[in-house]
Amino acid sequence: MATTLAAMRVVVVGSGAREHALCVALSRTADVTCTPGSPGIAGVATCVDDEAEKLEADLFVIGPEAPLVDGLADRLRAQGKRVFGPGADGALLEGSKAYMKQVVRDAGVPTAQYETFDDADAAESYLRSSTGPYVIKTDGLAAGKGVLVTDDLDAAITDVRDKLSGATFGGAGATVVIEECMAGPELSVLAVCDGRNYVLLPAAQDFKRMFDGDEGPNTGGMGAYSPVPGVDVDALQVGPLFVQPTLDYLTGRGVDYRGVLYVGLMLTPDGPKLVEYNVRFGDPETEVVVPGMQGDLAGLLASAADGALDPFGVGRPRDAAVIVMIASDAPAGGVIVGVENADAIDGVTVFHARTETRDGALVTAGSGRILGVVGRGHTLREARERAYAGVNEINLPGGYYRTDIALKASSL
Ligand code: AMP
Ligand code: GLY
Repeated sequence: MATTLAAMRVVVVGSGAREHALCVALSRTADVTCTPGSPGIAGVATCVDDEAEKLEADLFVIGPEAPLVDGLADRLRAQGKRVFGPGADGALLEGSKAYMKQVVRDAGVPTAQYETFDDADAAESYLRSSTGPYVIKTDGLAAGKGVLVTDDLDAAITDVRDKLSGATFGGAGATVVIEECMAGPELSVLAVCDGRNYVLLPAAQDFKRMFDGDEGPNTGGMGAYSPVPGVDVDALQVGPLFVQPTLDYLTGRGVDYRGVLYVGLMLTPDGPKLVEYNVRFGDPETEVVVPGMQGDLAGLLASAADGALDPFGVGRPRDAAVIVMIASDAPAGGVIVGVENADAIDGVTVFHARTETRDGALVTAGSGRILGVVGRGHTLREARERAYAGVNEINLPGGYYRTDIALKASSL
């Protein structure tokens, strides 16, 4: 009698477009449950609304940064569970920019010069003695919105005072980091780490500003594409210059980092420099990198969680992908139409970032990023056309999106 191996049972924690993309990829080889999930995730995984501590599985994958910073991985490991995601000690790389900057400086990783402040007068006199542009960051988590880059000294001083007083970001702004301004194209690289070793996934480019032409405030990301023409993560030495020294530094201090290290780079005239580390899969980078990868993602993440990295055949996607995020300022409950039509287009997948079902209708579950429309194709141009064809099918109250995602790259 033939025996079949039971599929690995994986629990994914989260409800966004990143978790949707992870569930799509993991469900190819694993039996996936997501908590709390979303109407989109329900199409590919079982959604439950339970604390991860109460669930049983062969592997837990924690999507967002907040539970990682809050120590969810530690609590699950204390229950004997196998977890992909760093403990609170490793997650501090994202939870505190001041800590991250100190680590990368001490690890010898190329990055911008910086100072930290918790006193507004000291910060103001530092700004007055510097030349712009000024880069001011909240120390704590701010959903990608805690960074101001400005040439205007008065705006910089107002921003620093508002952050330090708690007026704009509450406790996350109690300390600020003021950095040297760097210039150049940005690149996001995800490294799957097992504590000592890593595998790099293909690079993506993220569009952080809210409006076309990189105008407006920073956001969590309004779109992304991958691959990035002319960029090779090996040639850029992303592993030897950034990931390895950071893992070595952490290991030397007893931090066993098993999860994604998201390397946010700026390609400056002096070479690549670190802008930020995140301690989880990027959003929306994951949506353009992970679903197209070959191989067994669940196997790869489980091996990293075990501290014994094995690529499990996970390789770069064969095609190109572009994601356009549709965001909304309107309150929760706005009816979303057209998702099925978009999904029906060849090469288009709609990932749900912030949706729920009410009275049988798909609605927005808040403001901010609502849906991510991915187009895949042989070229970035084809992927981009498909993504926007998908976006054109969708309507939701207060919806807006950038029209220039991957525009330059797809005409190269
Ligand atoms: P972060 O949250 O640290 O990634 O910053 C958000 C965005 O602000 C980055 O993606 C950059 O576009 C910009 N930024 C952050 N730090 C710098 C810097 N030192 N110089 C120039 N731009 C920066
Ligand atoms: N897209 C930026 C991030 O995931 O933080």
